Amino acid sequence: MRRMHGIRNIVILTGAGISAESGLCTFRADDGLWEDHRVEDVASPAGFRRDPGLVQRFYDERRKNIMAAEPNAAHLALAKLDEAWDGELLIVTQNIDDLNERAGAKRVLHMHGEGLSAWCLACGARHPWTGTLLDGPPCPVCGEVALRPDIVWFGEMPYEMDRIFNAITRADLFVSIGTSGAVYPAAGFVQQAKSARARTLELNLERSQGSAWFDETRLGPASELVPEWVEEMLR
Ligand code: APR
Repeated sequence: MRRMHGIRNIVILTGAGISAESGLCTFRADDGLWEDHRVEDVASPAGFRRDPGLVQRFYDERRKNIMAAEPNAAHLALAKLDEAWDGELLIVTQNIDDLNERAGAKRVLHMHGEGLSAWCLACGARHPWTGTLLDGPPCPVCGEVALRPDIVWFGEMPYEMDRIFNAITRADLFVSIGTSGAVYPAAGFVQQAKSARARTLELNLERSQGSAWFDETRLGPASELVPEWVEEMLR
């Protein structure tokens, strides 16, 4: 394949905006609430300690929504790029849905965990999970009732940071799609990409908080911008 602009290694960061057109809600609406909850109540270890039932019910609902959603044109385009691109490529998603995988993408990393996964606080095992956690099912490995959503909450360390940093260090192109740039460390990846001399491109409905760091910003819905960009890359 001809390499556009000498690009071989690509890192793509995605956020809630790429799944918005699949009907999954983004986080930072004007009212500061997430599905009618304060984020710190449902997305922090302290919130979970305070009211585990509320948090389990909340993620039971998210799990149902994820399973009811379908990949949109943006997920399908990334899967096409993943399939065709023979250089390095990593889709780092902050999203907990599995829409990239269901679109067919293979090189996906969930830095904030996965909605369809449960994590046992007793033995550490992680399990694919599509049912409820509210009614306290036992861990399939150790039998303890200690399963929590396998989600990285505020105050917790995102997954696989070493792998992400290594990929960004080698990247020729860093692309950010549908993320507000409000939450670190993901919001800082563009700066790291710049210091690694990668080109940086932002595809978003509106300018993100880190917009000034990008060489190029294209504004619009992901379902239009992402397929257009992928066609350019594969031309
Ligand atoms: N196409 C492209 N971008 C869109 C679309 C769309 N159809 N709809 C919304 N957006 C943009 C918004 O303009 C916004 O900039 O997507 C961004 C979504 O931002 P957030 O709601 O803040 O989501 P995200 O950046 O993924 O949040 C990061 O915060 O709460 C935590 O852990 C959670 O992973 C999440 C993290």
